[in-house]
Formats: sequence, structure tokens, C-alpha cells
Amino acid sequence: MSLAQQRILIIGGSNGMGLAAARQLAAMQAEVLIVGRSQEKLDKALSGIEGRASGYVADFTDAEALNALFQRIGYIDHLVLAASANAAWGPFSSITTSMLRSALEGKLLGYWQALQAALPHLRRDGSVVMLSGAASRTAMPGTAGLSAVNGAITQMAQTLARELAPLRVNVVSPGLVDTPAYDALPADAKAGMFAGAAKSLPVGRTGTSEDIAQAIVYLLANGFTTGAVLDVDGGARMAL
Ligand SMILES: NC(=O)c1ccc[n+]([C@@H]2O[C@H](COP(=O)([O-])OP(=O)(O)OC[C@H]3O[C@@H](n4cnc5c(N)ncnc54)[C@H](OP(=O)(O)O)[C@@H]3O)[C@@H](O)[C@H]2O)c1
Repeated sequence: MSLAQQRILIIGGSNGMGLAAARQLAAMQAEVLIVGRSQEKLDKALSGIEGRASGYVADFTDAEALNALFQRIGYIDHLVLAASANAAWGPFSSITTSMLRSALEGKLLGYWQALQAALPHLRRDGSVVMLSGAASRTAMPGTAGLSAVNGAITQMAQTLARELAPLRVNVVSPGLVDTPAYDALPADAKAGMFAGAAKSLPVGRTGTSEDIAQAIVYLLANGFTTGAVLDVDGGARMAL
């Protein structure tokens, strides 16, 4: 299925994987609409996208902001949910319920209400791609918080693939990918974490935003795929 001329909304499209998807989709002649909380990030992102693209400031954890967004943009063919703010990362005993609540609100509840707000504007037989995370596909110690949030997204998406049909609903499960999400880490700590992960993975490297964007494009374009979880994790499911 060609994605040319399709209107594709990417929530979390101003950075990382969402931005890489926006670039690839615009190059395929799709019209991309990217959403984030920061106008500055949106402007920077738009300057690097070649093709039809526009940016909108909205916080996807704010139901009113989402409704205003959809009133403004109208009809879309596809929705990509690629945002996330607070990750509940660390040993089980260190994750407080308020950290977990914040992670759930910053991702699962955001995806939930973004899709609810989008539905009246989303083509009936269009599609949705949600980003989960490889932690929920492994049993790696120290990732119970990430697993709880991303596992819920995976299960929700598979149920919605039936309940909302003919809308297709799919998930990309990324492994460790170098994106601005890790900018706050000290450089040494980040380099050590990425080098250690690369060594442990069958592919011998960590991921790029472009790796994940290719998977998003595939799921948007393949009209015979729904309820799928595409693991784009360098083999983390088998190795970790
Ligand atoms: N990077 C990894 O290693 C990794 C691994 C597994 C899973 N994931 C998942 O993959 C997805 C993409 O990750 P990434 O690393 O590409 O993230 P990123 O580089 O940090 O980008 C996140 C994007 O989401 C936007 N965003 C964050 N909170 C938002 C909110 N409340 N409302 C609207 N937009 C919001 C950000 O813009 P503003 O800040 O301007 O709002 C930005 O555009 C996330 O769901 C993440 O959990 C990432």
C-alpha cells in the first residue's frame, strides 16, 4: 500500500524515532503532522524534514489539548504514537508507586487518550502504530517498571486490533536506541551503557532511530498486518 499523499500524525515526532519516521514518510510523499510539547524542538525537527510537514504543540497527557489538536488538524489516515517522557527504570524496590504512576501517565494513559481523541478523525480502515519497548519482551532484572508500562501497551494494542477493525493496530518494540532520550545521562555512563548492550546483542550494535522508523513505515504500509508486535531490538529478546 502506498503511503504517498497519506496524512500521518506522529505524536512524539519532534525527536528520536518519531522524527526519523517523519523524515522517511515525508520522503515517500506522505504528509506528516508532528506533535510535541516544545515549539523549539518542533521548529528544529521541521527544518530537517524534506517534504510536506507541519508541527503542533500539544501535551498528549492533556485530554483538552488533544481535542483542540484534532479540531485543528481534522482528518488523518494513520496515527503513530511515539512519545514518552518518564521511564520507571531501576530495581523493583527502587521504583516507588509515584514513579510508576508518572510513567503510566506519561505513556500508557497518553496513548490511550490520544487514540480515543483521534478515533473520530481517523480513517476507518487506516492504521495505528504504537511504540512499546523491548523490556516488556524479555525478563531482564531492573526493568519491571518499563515492562509494566510497555507490556500493557502491547496487550491493549492486540485487543484493539480486533475491537476497532478494520482499523489496523500494530506495535513496534524497540531495543536500546541512541536518541535524545539519553541526553541527560553523563557522557561516560551513556557510552558504557551502549557499549555493554552492543556487546550482548546478536547484531553487535545498538539501534538507530532509522532502524525503528523503517519498522514503523512497514506496519503503516502493509494492509495485511494487524495485531502484530514487531521486535526491532537487535535480538534482545533472545540475548537478555
Ligand atoms: N530510546 C530507546 O532506547 C527506547 C527503547 C525502548 C522503547 N523506547 C520507546 O520509544 C518511544 C520513542 O522514544 P525516543 O527515544 O525516540 O524518545 P525521545 O527521543 O525522547 O522523543 C520523545 C518525543 O516525544 C515527545 N513527547 C514526550 N512527552 C510528550 C507529551 N507528554 N506530549 C507530547 N509529546 C511528548 C517529545 O517532544 P517534547 O519533549 O517536546 O514533548 C519527543 O518528540 C518512546 O515511547 C520510548 O518509551 C525507546
